[in-house]
Amino acid sequence: MTRPIILTGDRTTGPLHLGHYAGSLRSRLAFQDSHEQFLLLADMQALTDNAHNVGKVRSSVIEVALDYLAVGIDPERTSICLQSQLPALAELSMLYLNLVTVARLERNPTIKDEIRARGFGRDIPAGFLCYPVAQAADITAFRATIVPVGEDQAPLIEQTNEIVRRVNALAGRTLLQEAEAIIPCAGRLPGVDGRAKMSKSAGNAIPLSASPDDISAAVRAMFTDPDHLRVADPGKVEGNVVFTYLDAFDDDHDAVAELKARYRRGGLGDTTAKRRLEDILQALIAPIRTRRSELANDRDHVTEVIRRGTLKAREITERTRRDVMEGLGLFQL
Ligand code: TRP
Repeated sequence: MTRPIILTGDRTTGPLHLGHYAGSLRSRLAFQDSHEQFLLLADMQALTDNAHNVGKVRSSVIEVALDYLAVGIDPERTSICLQSQLPALAELSMLYLNLVTVARLERNPTIKDEIRARGFGRDIPAGFLCYPVAQAADITAFRATIVPVGEDQAPLIEQTNEIVRRVNALAGRTLLQEAEAIIPCAGRLPGVDGRAKMSKSAGNAIPLSASPDDISAAVRAMFTDPDHLRVADPGKVEGNVVFTYLDAFDDDHDAVAELKARYRRGGLGDTTAKRRLEDILQALIAPIRTRRSELANDRDHVTEVIRRGTLKAREITERTRRDVMEGLGLFQL
C-alpha cells in the first residue's frame, strides 16, 4: 500500500528553535513511519521578504537541514529538498498565477496579516503577494494530500484547493487532488518573554543549538505571573510561560497538574517550577545540540542528504508539471 504524501517545510531564514520543535518538528518525527514525507527547504519563499538578504537565506539552508537531522529526521524515510533547485515549482507557479486574481490574493487572511505585521503598506514585493500561489505549486507538485501547517497558514491551503478545483475544471477531469491542512494540536509556543510567538528576530527564542548556559539564562528570565511576589501568594498559571512550557515538554501530566494547583493555591515558588522546567529542557536539547555539532563538522554529508532528496523531488514534481500542462492542453514538443 502506498503511504499518503505529506509536504511541509520551512523558510530558510535562520536556524530553528524550540517553538518549531513543539509546533512541527515533533510531529514530523512521528509522520516518518506512517507517511511519505517531504520536507521543503523553502529558500525561494524566504526570498519573498528577504531579497535584500540572500546571504542569510543561503546559509540558513544548511542550518535548517542540520536542525532537521539533529532532532532525528531520517533522510532514509523523509526526503529533504531544496525549493530553488526544483524548476517545476516555478513553472507551475507561473501557470497558477493566471488562475487567481490580485483581489483574491489581497483578501487572503494570512497575506493580509503578514503585510500588516511587516509594515509593507503598498510596497509589497510582488513575489510576497503571490507566495500563496507558489505554495499551491509546492503542494500540488508533490501531490501532497496532507499539509501540516501552523494555524496562521490554513488559508493558504484553502487557496491551494481553489486552484486545484480551477485546474480540474479547466481540464475537464481530475488532474490534481485537494489537500487537507492539519493543524498541530500542540498550538503555538509563546516566546520566553510571554509574547504570543517565539521568534529569533524578537529575541525571545531558545534555539535548538542553545548551550546549557543559554538555556539556564532563558529559563531564569522567563515571564511568569508578575503579581506572584512571594512563594506563599496565589499565582496565575494562564499566560505564565513556565507552565505553558511544562505543558508542552513535561511528559508527567499529573505532576504538572499538581504543580499548577499548588501555584494557584499559593506555596509554590517560581524558582521551583523553573528548576523543573530547566531540567526538562536541558535533557531535551542536550542530545540535539551534540548531534547538531557533530553534523555541522560534516557539511558535505548534509549537502549530500539535500542533494539526494532534491533529485527524488525533481522527478516527482517534474512529472506533475507535465501531467498538468498536458492535461490543460498546452502544446507539447
Ligand atoms: N510557508 C511555510 C512556512 O513559512 C513554508 C512552506 C513553503 C511550506 N512551502 C510549503 C509549508 C509547502 C508547507 C507546504 O513555514
